[in-house]
Amino acid sequence: MRALVVDHASPGHLTLADVPDPRPAGNEALVRVEAFSLNSGEIHTATRPGTPDGSLLGWDAAGVVVRAASDGSGPAEGERVVTVGHTGWAELRAVPATLLGTAPKGADPGALGTLPVAGLSALHALRRMGPLLGRRVMVTGASGGVGRYAVQLAARAGAHVVAVSRASGQAAALRTLGASEVHPEPAAVRKPVAAVLDNVGGPHLVDAFAALGAGGTLVSVGRSSGADAVLPPDALLGDGGRHDRSIRTFFLFGDPAPDFSAELTWLAHEVAEGRLDPGISWRGPWTRHSEAVEALLGGQLHGKAVLDVE
Ligand SMILES: NC(=O)c1ccc[n+]([C@@H]2O[C@H](COP(=O)([O-])OP(=O)(O)OC[C@H]3O[C@@H](n4cnc5c(N)ncnc54)[C@H](OP(=O)(O)O)[C@@H]3O)[C@@H](O)[C@H]2O)c1
Repeated sequence: MRALVVDHASPGHLTLADVPDPRPAGNEALVRVEAFSLNSGEIHTATRPGTPDGSLLGWDAAGVVVRAASDGSGPAEGERVVTVGHTGWAELRAVPATLLGTAPKGADPGALGTLPVAGLSALHALRRMGPLLGRRVMVTGASGGVGRYAVQLAARAGAHVVAVSRASGQAAALRTLGASEVHPEPAAVRKPVAAVLDNVGGPHLVDAFAALGAGGTLVSVGRSSGADAVLPPDALLGDGGRHDRSIRTFFLFGDPAPDFSAELTWLAHEVAEGRLDPGISWRGPWTRHSEAVEALLGGQLHGKAVLDVE
């Protein structure tokens, strides 16, 4: 089969190559991949000099089951599915039922392909915050892949969503997705928030932590800024309504990886039936992968880059 593998000599550090077909275990379905989206974490891995040429990266994929798992678990042949895993951007993927959700037959695979890492991370990070109804929830990096899903899901859960985005042109779009307030940086948020989903790290994390009210939690999902988060001594004071605040780390895959099947199926139906916006910001055939990588690394995306596998 063909796959997109790391090649540091190629534009975007990726190239299409022939690799061996996967050999599904008894609990794995074989999926023909139709589309996938890029995540900033895997692109940064691809561009890192220490990542060997030939590495197969890629967590997200949507497609159709071409051979059901031989142990009878998971979806039947012909079902449209969305999958998360480490098995790479390739024409075929072997996936256990726990890492695969089913989608309506007519669903757009490109829209489904935006969901696995971004949608699941937004959903799980928001759940770390407890009930959201009527609470002020800040989302930083709000116009990114995780951010856009987090804004929508938090609003759906009844939160007053405080979106933080440096992309001033995205304010109207973020309000349409459910944000009640949009600010250029966390320091501009004057009223305390009950929780933060932070995608950016660095000074954003420091200022967002300062915006938490008593008992509030910041869930640190990402570090898109690449900057150090330096907490001045006063940041950790608990006086003046600032006591009992916490910062939680987050890792989607955990150990062992959770069973994502029900959540992927739910998210797939929400996207397919128009209740969640997949936020496709760039789309093209996977032969144009270097343009997508360039757009992602250049900060030109406001949402997801989707590649269609031809
Ligand atoms: N821990 C986990 O399991 C997990 C899972 C998924 C993702 N992540 C991480 O979470 C982060 C977000 O992922 P993503 O897929 O949403 O990435 P993304 O699509 O690239 O979005 C990141 C957003 O962060 C903001 N941003 C980027 N650089 C910034 C800077 N220098 N200063 C301020 N804001 C900046 C931008 O939003 P605005 O333009 O709106 O400000 C950007 O759209 C990444 O670091 C990713 O690696 C971690």
